[in-house]
Amino acid sequence: MTLWGGRFGGSLEESAWRLNASITFDRRLAEQDVQGSQAWAHALCQAGLLTPEENEQLQAGLSKILEEFRQDSFAVQPQDEDIHTAVERRLGELIGDVAGKLHTGRSRNDQVATDFRLWVLAAIEQLDRSLRAFQSILVQRAEQDWNLILPGYTHLQRAQPILLSHWWLAHFWPLQRDRQRLTDLRKRTAILPLGSGALAGVPFPIDRQALAKALGFEAPCANSLDGVSDRDFAAEFLFCAGLIGVHLSRLAESMVIFTTAEFGFFTLVDAYSTGSSLMPQKKNPDLFELGRGKAGKLIGLLSGLLATLKGLPSTYDKDLQEDKPPLFTAYDTLIELLPVLGGAIATLQVNVPKLAAALDPALFATDLADYLVEKGVPFRQAHEWVGKAVRLAEEQGISLERLPLESYQTITQLFEEDLYAVFNPLRSVSRRRAEGGTAPEAVQRQLETAKAILKQ
Ligand code: ARG
Repeated sequence: MTLWGGRFGGSLEESAWRLNASITFDRRLAEQDVQGSQAWAHALCQAGLLTPEENEQLQAGLSKILEEFRQDSFAVQPQDEDIHTAVERRLGELIGDVAGKLHTGRSRNDQVATDFRLWVLAAIEQLDRSLRAFQSILVQRAEQDWNLILPGYTHLQRAQPILLSHWWLAHFWPLQRDRQRLTDLRKRTAILPLGSGALAGVPFPIDRQALAKALGFEAPCANSLDGVSDRDFAAEFLFCAGLIGVHLSRLAESMVIFTTAEFGFFTLVDAYSTGSSLMPQKKNPDLFELGRGKAGKLIGLLSGLLATLKGLPSTYDKDLQEDKPPLFTAYDTLIELLPVLGGAIATLQVNVPKLAAALDPALFATDLADYLVEKGVPFRQAHEWVGKAVRLAEEQGISLERLPLESYQTITQLFEEDLYAVFNPLRSVSRRRAEGGTAPEAVQRQLETAKAILKQ
């Protein structure tokens, strides 16, 4: 027996039933479904459609169902098409005919949109917490690895010396923007569809403002047609998840590179690395590779939902049932991934000699140009002269630091003995003390800002 069987002579073919049903995945909305129904029953009572006694019966029955879900004793029956019909069926078993009053003025269309929004609101909160925990690991690393200097890269070519703490914090800010995006999304998610009916609104005097408040929403939706079909919040959630995935993937990629023998900057502890079934010596960064790989899946989930939405005529269409699994998957993926990547980062060992050995003198070429700039040379000219020095050093098979002063002076007499002072990592980073730069004092200020954000 379905809840919509009245006008049908026969029942749905079995495989068609399975295709149509969503209970296998929307069971996950059980808590939200009960919560929404309890608020709806109150609203019906306020509107005079239920007596207080009837409302009491509905509330008690729904509470019992919630308990069954929480204790995992709720028995899904073969005729339960989705979570909404399952709850209503069980309510009838528990309290009898009065259960049939609950769906007054309500449709599964405004119901499911409400349930789903409630779920997303909770998911945003959890995800934010998880991101924050991950950020605090980056801050810890920045503190722990204080004063270590490594080459910064552009085009994956050694560029300029930077503080390792600065590098760690570079991964803090993208995640901070992700958290801001989630906070912003919360506002648009907390718009209540309930009271939209199937599409045209509700014909009873329901106080939708009060209903919105009771469910923790900011306001009821302004248009019932939009209310039942709007899935922007779901798409936005997937965008946020996808971008978080991209940010984690970029960090993971650096970890994969920096743990190679070629770089050797970091070593993963055994608890966060994996072996090879064939090559006994291997210690692989599988977890970071999975972090990188899962970003691809997250991006795909967003494209998938957008494609589902793009051709839908107004208002509710069953295509919309496909909206939930991608969000569940995206959420589960990140909630699983973040603590693992965080743990791997928190425990990794930094190979200080490898960092130092990577600081080759060519990294100070910009500082050498700046040395000339301070003697009044236009930067373009200084760039060219230092470029010549680089070529001379290359021709002689030596580093810039070993290039004799005589060779420098064949380019310009402005090069003097004190030029060799530029080949000093701490001097180089310390000069970049303007806000946002890699000087210890600037990074210290950045670190304080990051820590203050985590305290909020
Ligand atoms: N299981 C459905 C979904 O997730 C509930 C809404 C069904 N509405 C309908 N008109 N058939 O979208």
